[in-house]
Amino acid sequence: MNDRFLRACRREPVDRTPLWIMRQAGRYLPEYRALRQQVDFLTLCKTPELAVEASLQPLRRFPLDASIIFSDILLPLEALGCQMTFNPGPKLAEPVRTRAQVEALTPRPSADVVPFVGDAIRLLRRELDGRTPVIGFCGAPFTLAAYLVQGEGKEGFGAAKTLLYREPATLERLLETLAVQMTDYLRLQIDAGAQAVQIFDSWAGLLGVDEYERFALAPVRAIVSGLRDRNVPVIYFVNGGPHLIESAATAGSDVLGLCWRTPLDDAARRVGPGLALQGNLDPHVLFAEPDEVRRQAARVLGRMHGRPGHIMNLGHGILPDTPIASVEALVEAVHRTATQPAVEATA
Ligand code: CP3
Repeated sequence: MNDRFLRACRREPVDRTPLWIMRQAGRYLPEYRALRQQVDFLTLCKTPELAVEASLQPLRRFPLDASIIFSDILLPLEALGCQMTFNPGPKLAEPVRTRAQVEALTPRPSADVVPFVGDAIRLLRRELDGRTPVIGFCGAPFTLAAYLVQGEGKEGFGAAKTLLYREPATLERLLETLAVQMTDYLRLQIDAGAQAVQIFDSWAGLLGVDEYERFALAPVRAIVSGLRDRNVPVIYFVNGGPHLIESAATAGSDVLGLCWRTPLDDAARRVGPGLALQGNLDPHVLFAEPDEVRRQAARVLGRMHGRPGHIMNLGHGILPDTPIASVEALVEAVHRTATQPAVEATA
């Protein structure tokens, strides 16, 4: 059993820093694009055998230290009655903007509506047979609300921020419903065999500190406390939030995932010793030459050198046009730290 990822989540000593990559299954892999020629994205997510195939693809190429179940953060919202399409980004059949629409969203057991996610996790665990741990995931309530209110991905998510200031109680009600549904959804994944879970707060960085604490952090805390009896590590990823690090560190998670904007040693000082950190190579580094990828990766690793509890990752999801050779260079740089101390790169 490769348990370096789980050990790092718990801040236990490891032989080398574990590595996985956010969005590691996806369009930068030719075999993923081939799979998508055969089947549309939603069918891929909803067919356990195919979702497991997508999860396994990056692991066949790269010796990564964790796998993540193949799905999307928006998909479990079908349990609330929200219909959507992907092309490739999500589009809701109807944006949720009024108090009446929010009140009409009623949490339902994930096991009834998205049973395929549990089935896929069970199958993935069986296929991996202990080679790597399996991560389950969900979107954080504010990030999900940003899509639900806007109806699609849109820079700035103005509709959600407008609702926040015009009708804060309506947004809060939506966030509470999402927190209940996501707690149930993560419990389903853990009970199916997910050995850690990650909560993606991709759009938390759109908020100032006070708004973040009320509208993004509070519902994440509710989810994390609803998972405590399951006893698996929880990773909370906050994108675009250098100003939110101290607040985000109080979510109750075991690991704080950081975007690429803050140096990890700076973040480590700010959060104190009680949290593991995950990240945070800028995804665009992977468009540089392999030598530069190795140098930049060594720089990130060097910032956490000697501190227990680092999971190497990008600072946001891997981009669709990323060259395979860059991922290989990243893996190599991380593996190299097993035998020789990371050197502080010269800038
Ligand atoms: O390996 C993995 O991590 C795959 C599972 C996964 C997907 N989406 C598959 C996917 C995960 C963990 C996600 C998370 C997700 N989805 C987030 C949080 C992470 C982040 O990047 O901030 C967000 C915001 C979404 C919403 C979403 N879904 C967008 C914006 C898009 C379109 C553009 C894009 O980023 O790819 C999707 C579609 C989607 N989700 C694809 C994949 C592989 C592409 C669909 C296709 O094959 O056409």
